[in-house]
Amino acid sequence: MEPIIIVHGGAGDIPLSRVQGKLNGVKASAAVGQKILAQGGTALDAVEAAVVLMEKDEYFNAGYGSVLNLKGQVEMEASIMCGNNLDVGAVTLIKDFLHPISIAHKVLTNSPHSLLGGEGAKMFALEMGFSTVPPESLISENAKSALAEFLKHGEFGRTEIGLRDEGGVGTVGAVAIDCNGHIAVATSTGGMSGKAVGRIGDTPQIGSGTYADDNIGGVSTTGHGESILKYCLAHSIIKLMQSGNVANTATKLAINGMTERLKNTAGAITLSKSGDVGINFSSKRMAWAYIRSNKIYFGIEKDEILEEDYVSI
Ligand code: GLY
Repeated sequence: MEPIIIVHGGAGDIPLSRVQGKLNGVKASAAVGQKILAQGGTALDAVEAAVVLMEKDEYFNAGYGSVLNLKGQVEMEASIMCGNNLDVGAVTLIKDFLHPISIAHKVLTNSPHSLLGGEGAKMFALEMGFSTVPPESLISENAKSALAEFLKHGEFGRTEIGLRDEGGVGTVGAVAIDCNGHIAVATSTGGMSGKAVGRIGDTPQIGSGTYADDNIGGVSTTGHGESILKYCLAHSIIKLMQSGNVANTATKLAINGMTERLKNTAGAITLSKSGDVGINFSSKRMAWAYIRSNKIYFGIEKDEILEEDYVSI
C-alpha cells in the first residue's frame, strides 16, 4: 500500500484573514510527513514531524501561537499513538517547551506511563534532553488580542478558535500509514482561549483527541474540547469504522452525533487501515491536506476539495 499522511490545522470560526496562512501551513506539514514516509520512515516519525512544523507556525493553536488561559499563560497538551501495539504517549499543562508533541513521543517510547502533566512532564522532558524556552516566547500577538477580546466580552468560545476575528488559530493533528502498514496519530494544542488555569481538554486524552489501531484506522480531532472528550470522538469514529462504515461516513456520523447531542462543534481527519480518507467538520471551517499519487489535496471550506500537482520536497 502507498504510504499516506493527512493533517488538519483546527476546526472553528476561522476568519477569512487566517485562511491562506492556514492552508499554506497544512500543505507544508503534509509535505514534510509525506517525505519521511516516502523515504521508508515510520508513521510515528511522520506524524511527529508534521505536527512539529505546525507547532512552530503562529497560524495554529499549538506550540508557538498557542492560545492563552485566563492568566495570560500558555498551557499546552499533546498526544501520540501507535496503531501497531496501541502504545500511547501524552502530555498536558506544558508551559515552557516549544514542541509538546516531541515530549509526548518520548513518553510513548521511554516512559512506563501514558500521560504526564505539569511539573512531572517538565522533569521528564528535561531528563530526555529537551531544552526549555521562556514561556513568553511562545506567546503571539494574535493570542494576546484573542484573550483581550475574550476578557472584554466575557463569552466562552464554543471552539478553541474563538468567536471573533482575533484568534483564528486551531489545534493541529496528523494521521499516517507507513510502508509497513502501521498507523500513527499525533495531536497538539494550546487548548481554548480564556480557559481556566489547569484546564485539560480532549487532546491529551486517548480516545478523545487521538486514536490509532492498525486493525481499523486512525483519527485526530479538533474543536470544542469538553464536548469531544464527553463523546470520546476519536474512538467513536474508530468504532463506526469497525462496524463497517468507510472512513468518511464514520467521521461524518460521529461529528454529527456529537454536535446533535452536545450542541458544540468539532472536526476530525481519519484514515482507515486501507488508506481510505475521512474529513468532516460541523464547525464553519477546518484546514486539512493530504498527498496521494503526486497530487496534493487540501481545503478549508465545507465540501471543498482543492487539488494541485505535487512535486516531492
Ligand atoms: N480541542 C482542543 C481543546 O478544546 O482543548
